Parts: sequence; structure tokens; C-alpha cells
Amino acid sequence: MSRPIAILGGTGPAGMGLALRWARAGESVVIGSRNAELAEAAANQIRDKAGASAQVRGTTNAEACASCDLLALTVPFEGQAGLLKELKTALKAGSILMDATVPLAASIGGRASRTLGVWQGSAAQQTAELVPKGVTVVGAFQNCSADAMNGDDPVECDVIVCSDNPEATQTVCGLVTKIPGLRAIDGGKLENSRIVEQVTALLIGLNIRHKGHGGIRITGLPAAAYRTAG
Ligand SMILES: NC(=O)c1ccc[n+]([C@@H]2O[C@H](COP(=O)([O-])OP(=O)(O)OC[C@H]3O[C@@H](n4cnc5c(N)ncnc54)[C@H](OP(=O)(O)O)[C@@H]3O)[C@@H](O)[C@H]2O)c1
Repeated sequence: MSRPIAILGGTGPAGMGLALRWARAGESVVIGSRNAELAEAAANQIRDKAGASAQVRGTTNAEACASCDLLALTVPFEGQAGLLKELKTALKAGSILMDATVPLAASIGGRASRTLGVWQGSAAQQTAELVPKGVTVVGAFQNCSADAMNGDDPVECDVIVCSDNPEATQTVCGLVTKIPGLRAIDGGKLENSRIVEQVTALLIGLNIRHKGHGGIRITGLPAAAYRTAG
């Protein structure tokens, strides 16, 4: 049986897109929120779209951490550090935390097409500094448009997966390939998340300019570099 996946801050567009796609793939999903009722309502929305048999429930972020060891973090950058500090005792050693956070300047009232400098190098590295020992942070999904993820078509995007733990990278690559259209690429060390996060600001600018929901595709690597479903 596959491990349940908790999505912390899962009630927003990024978290809902992941929840929908994983629920459709038959994964068991726990939507986390600061407010359990909001999380339950979000879970009902996913069931409406994915079908009554979808394994999805909603609860608080803390309970979601306590009941799962595969976690995704989808909160705005301004909420990231505060939430992780609150969850410090709830996060279990041995957990893998996929971080999709992008440090957009919109977090402090600036443009969504610009990023903020992060002292640690990237939002994902900030997360790594804030989680308890034994929790492995993996940067992933930052370049996937929530509009595309919440739709029905295959998602045209490559997901660059960055972590300092090769096993955790492989686990997250496996979860990427549950989503039709996505290809997972091992992006090397967690510090490479800095570059991946910057690309999101470019994509947001392009999507505003061209009125789309584009992602990225990396070309020219050997076939073995791309992990796809099946
Ligand atoms: N949207 C996209 O297309 C996209 C694509 C790739 C990556 N991302 C990244 O993914 C993250 C989430 O994006 P989003 O568009 O889903 O964001 P969002 O709608 O602004 O926020 C997601 C959820 O985070 C929780 N939250 C908000 N402020 C918080 C705070 N101060 N402390 C703790 N929790 C807070 C809220 O859930 P509750 O109120 O239920 O707790 C909210 O529903 C961002 O870092 C974004 O850059 C987004």
C-alpha cells in the first residue's frame, strides 16, 4: 500500500492541484490547513472532481504531519518560516518534505514576476534549516502552474527535483510521475533549488504577457535522465 501524502497549506491553488492529481492517481492524500474545517471543505472539492472513491481527507497541518511521513509544503513564502516553526514538534524524523515554495516579491507587496533574496540561498534551503533533524527537504514542483495542475489535461512541464539525499530525490521523482504529462529530472543538490525557484518568476511574467499557464521542458538529455510514468 502506498504511503499517504500530506499537503501542508493544501487549501490554495498549488496544494489543491497536487491533491487532485495524486487523488486521481489513486494516492491517499491528506490536505492540511491552519483551519481543519477549511481543509475538510477542500477535501470535499477534490472528491467532487476526482470521484467519490478518491482517498482524500482534510485536517490541521499539525495532524497531517503527525499522520504522514511524505509531506508537500505549498504556502506563500511569507508564511513558510512561521508555519515550519509552529510544526517543529509535529514533524517526524524520517519524513520527506517536498517544498514548492517560491520566494516571490509579491510576498512583501512587490511583483509576482520578481523574487526576493533569501539568506539561506533559496526557500527550500530555508526550509531545510527550519525542520527538525532527520527530516529531508526536497525542492520540487515550483515550476508547475496551478492552473494546469487543477485542470484535466496532461501537465506540460518538467519537474526538477533537488535534494541532498538521493533516495529522497527518487521517492519524489516517483510521485511526480504519478501525474500525467509531468517528467521528473534529478536536479542534483538542494542548493540548485535557488535556480529552479527563480525560473518560476520568469514563468509568471511569461504567463501574464502571453495569457497562458506555461511550464518548462528540458531538452537534449539522455532518455534515462527523464523519469516518466510507467
Ligand atoms: N499557484 C501556483 O501556480 C504555484 C506554482 C508553483 C509553486 N507555487 C508556490 O506554492 C506556494 C503556494 O502557492 P498558492 O498559490 O497555493 O498560495 P496561496 O493560495 O496564497 O496559499 C496556500 C495556502 O497557504 C496557507 N497560508 C496562507 N498564508 C499562510 C501563512 N501566513 N501561514 C501559514 N499558512 C498560510 C493557506 O491555507 P490555510 O488558510 O487553509 O491554512 C492558503 O490556502 C507558494 O509558495 C507559491 O509560490 C505556486
